[in-house]
Amino acid sequence: MTQRRSIIAGVGSYLPERVVTNDDLAQTVETSDEWITGRTGIRQRRFAAEDEMTSDLAYQAALRALEHAGVPASDVDLIVLGTATPDHTFPATATRVQNMLGIRHGAAFDVQAVCSGFVYAISVADNFIRAGQAKTALVIGAETFSRILDWEDRTTCVLFGDGAGAVVLRAEDLPAGADPTAARGILSTHLRSDGAYKDLLYVDGGPSSTRTVGHVRMEGREVFRHAVTNLAEVVGESLAANGLTQDDIDWLVPHQANKRILDGTARKLKLAPEKVVVTVDRHANTSAASIPLALDEAVRDGRIQRGQLVLMEAMGGGFTWGACLARW
Ligand code: ACO
Repeated sequence: MTQRRSIIAGVGSYLPERVVTNDDLAQTVETSDEWITGRTGIRQRRFAAEDEMTSDLAYQAALRALEHAGVPASDVDLIVLGTATPDHTFPATATRVQNMLGIRHGAAFDVQAVCSGFVYAISVADNFIRAGQAKTALVIGAETFSRILDWEDRTTCVLFGDGAGAVVLRAEDLPAGADPTAARGILSTHLRSDGAYKDLLYVDGGPSSTRTVGHVRMEGREVFRHAVTNLAEVVGESLAANGLTQDDIDWLVPHQANKRILDGTARKLKLAPEKVVVTVDRHANTSAASIPLALDEAVRDGRIQRGQLVLMEAMGGGFTWGACLARW
């Protein structure tokens, strides 16, 4: 029996034009470049223009991913978009992107897993493809986190940025007799969540609770502690599920929350720092967008090569966390 899987056929990303450095922030927030760089590795971030919405960033990233894949938008029969900053409470931002791309068939919906949004979205799309319910999926992570920051709270407002990234997944049958871990495509995805930690990272508003949008609230130190442990655990699970070890990983493309979390995770996995794709210095934490933004950079500059093993992992509010292992 043939086994169907998802191939990552193309990747694309988009950053808004406006660059905001730590020194720019220090003009209005009681902070410094030294503090932000030292604690987080962040040097700058991008912020969307006043009239730019999450769907606008997502659309640009989607166009670039489709072009990279050489796939026409008309082939797309599924759009899964990870975001915690949708254009509107409803309809889903994914349907807006679907419309911008001129697609009127298939299905489009959002996934809410905050910083794990991209890993959740790619897992959902991969399962649709494996089940035969979709053939060509657009998986997007897109955020305008600048809209939910409290500029009076220096412990959170310096950490985040805006952006979008996307991948195109195509259904492909594994050749008869092929080694599933050596063949191209997504090997497996692993999702976890635990709502008991809601109070450590959340937004203090919403349509049903306060009828407002709210602002990001975070117990940074506690989140940091859980992130390194949870990420190492889910990465171990993904490797074990495929009979692989950390020595098999060519590239770690992690969610970009904080350089110290990236270093801590790499150390736990005994991975050389050169194998970790880092963009947090220039993008800050773009939540669901950070993995496809980093992936796009490393694919386009030639670091990630065909046949290499790429591990993506993320943790975010909820808590939610997860990993995706793919052969490029
Ligand atoms: N500028 C200057 N000083 C600041 C700032 C700032 N922006 N923010 C906090 N401080 C001060 C605090 O007031 C405190 O001062 P005090 O000692 O006089 O009370 C001091 O710096 C230390 O504050 P802590 O919060 O203890 O600093 P910590 O070393 O824990 O670093 C940080 C904070 C960077 C948020 C860290 O905890 C962290 O990275 N946590 C991970 C959370 C994260 O990245 N979340 C992203 C979303 S979740 C995810 O994506 C995984």
